Amino acid sequence: MCGIVGYIGNKHPKDILLNGLKTLEYRGYDSSGIAIKNDKNIQIIKSVGKISNLEEKINNTKLIESNMGIGHTRWATHGEVNLVNAHPHQVGNITIVHNGIIENAKEIKDKLMNKGIKFKSNTDTEIACALINYNYNGDIIDAINKSTNELIGSYAFAILVKDKNMLYAVRKDSPLLLGIGDNEFFIASDLSAIIKYTNKYILLDENEIVELSDTYRIIKNNKIVKKEILIADVNDELVSKCGYEHYMLKEIMEEPVVLENTLKPYLDNLNLLPDISKYKEIHIVGCGSALYAGMIGKNLLEEKANVKVLCEVASEYRYKNIIYDRKTLVILISQSGETADTIAALRKAKKYGIDTLSIVNVKTSTISRESDSRIFIEAGKEVAVATTKAYILQAAILSLIAYKTALKRKSISDKSILNEFRKLPKLLSEVINRDDYIRIAKEIYKSSNVFFIGRKIDYSICLEGSLKLKEISYIHCEAKEAGELKHGTISLIDNDIPVFGIITDKDIADKTISNIEEVKSRGAKVIVITNIELNKYDYEILVPKVNDFCQSLLVVPTLQLIAYEIAKLRGCDIDKPKNLAKSVTVE
Ligand code: F6R
Repeated sequence: MCGIVGYIGNKHPKDILLNGLKTLEYRGYDSSGIAIKNDKNIQIIKSVGKISNLEEKINNTKLIESNMGIGHTRWATHGEVNLVNAHPHQVGNITIVHNGIIENAKEIKDKLMNKGIKFKSNTDTEIACALINYNYNGDIIDAINKSTNELIGSYAFAILVKDKNMLYAVRKDSPLLLGIGDNEFFIASDLSAIIKYTNKYILLDENEIVELSDTYRIIKNNKIVKKEILIADVNDELVSKCGYEHYMLKEIMEEPVVLENTLKPYLDNLNLLPDISKYKEIHIVGCGSALYAGMIGKNLLEEKANVKVLCEVASEYRYKNIIYDRKTLVILISQSGETADTIAALRKAKKYGIDTLSIVNVKTSTISRESDSRIFIEAGKEVAVATTKAYILQAAILSLIAYKTALKRKSISDKSILNEFRKLPKLLSEVINRDDYIRIAKEIYKSSNVFFIGRKIDYSICLEGSLKLKEISYIHCEAKEAGELKHGTISLIDNDIPVFGIITDKDIADKTISNIEEVKSRGAKVIVITNIELNKYDYEILVPKVNDFCQSLLVVPTLQLIAYEIAKLRGCDIDKPKNLAKSVTVE
């Protein structure tokens, strides 16, 4: 989390830093700040809240002449959200911005305090800044090396040094790249922040130090490193709302097209999908919605292909005693490809010599680069913090993998299912262009608790529906296995409490219907989303019936749209919900 941008060249850095920060706001928006520098001064301006607050402050401040600067948008880890804890931080000669978490910050702080150094903020960043300053005696590369050797944790730093007309940067376990323009250079957490100015970039590897002036040097272990300059497709990086009120709505509406683009090559030639049928066990690992997409895959692989699947949240998987006693494949799911816990899970599997396959959206990301093989979803840029189209594509790819595996293992033989996959984008388009979601949203937007119940794959759908609604509307939501409700949670059901019942699995439909009746008889306002014509409930959404591999992909968009309409009625900041960030690069 946190976004970093840096500039050195022949222009004043103000607009470049502000534009970059606005693009990076998806990485956190608790506070923000910039530092700009000339031969004599470093000027720091910080603000709490969104980048628009910083922009206003900068526009009301007389800025020094400058041709270099660093900027930061913060997602708070150490220290509460306030001006003092906002970045940049300055200690002595050193001014820095930081993305990541320094785990041994307390030990370093104690050591530096014993040497008489005082601290103003509660951040780990100021401690790292003080450490670099402490180690600095004119040779900044040496000071950065000494300091990073001592730091435990993750970091991407952009650094200004009082007596040097240069800009420095270094990273470990947090993303950072170098942008190369005409007589100007950029540092950024991701390419979107600088794509307006250049599409040439270098991906920085662990502990490579970048030194920028009128040229650039990349230094590792005191040796110059030569790196490949990559060229990005500008159209991939530039996005706009295209007339939609919110990115989230735009991204839901894009689902049919991106689904078609992602599936087409595999539907034309199923051999392009990896053959996972040789593995005895599959582990699917991810966080949040990526995990819930993984659960769709787990259900289908188990039910249809008879494969043993463990689906585990990455932050647990990385620390658990995972017993790899059979030929196992670990599938990592991540839109950003930079989620810290998922990266750690990937590295754990690799440490044990286990094969890894990633399903990612960002092709240049750490997870894509470090996994043994990868499948790219073609979601394009996802801007809204709550994922929608990327989730659908992750679930779709896993569904197709499950189908291929079931064919390979001869547990099914029905080839017509491929045709239904081909028809999915059209059906999805019909589903998302209906307008009955607004009626349901109006019925529930004032509620403070909402429940989602379902069984088997329908429960996995509930988990995503519940997460989507809670994260953007701030309504407390809970997903429960329908049969588990009576073991405690049903005591929360009361008059008019909305309960979504998801019924798509015909084999278990009657059981879920009984559980729905149990909550209905206790006064719940029941909303059923199903592929079976029940004509039983006041609020019933009938989605087109398709085969089991494709079905969830027509139900979840319904829940995404209901969540969207509810959040809109509640006046929430839909694209940037509070306390969240799009890319979770800290554990
Ligand atoms: C929820 C959401 C998150 C992400 C999770 C993993 O709407 O977006 O739960 O799914 O943070 O992110 P990635 O897929 O980038 O690893």
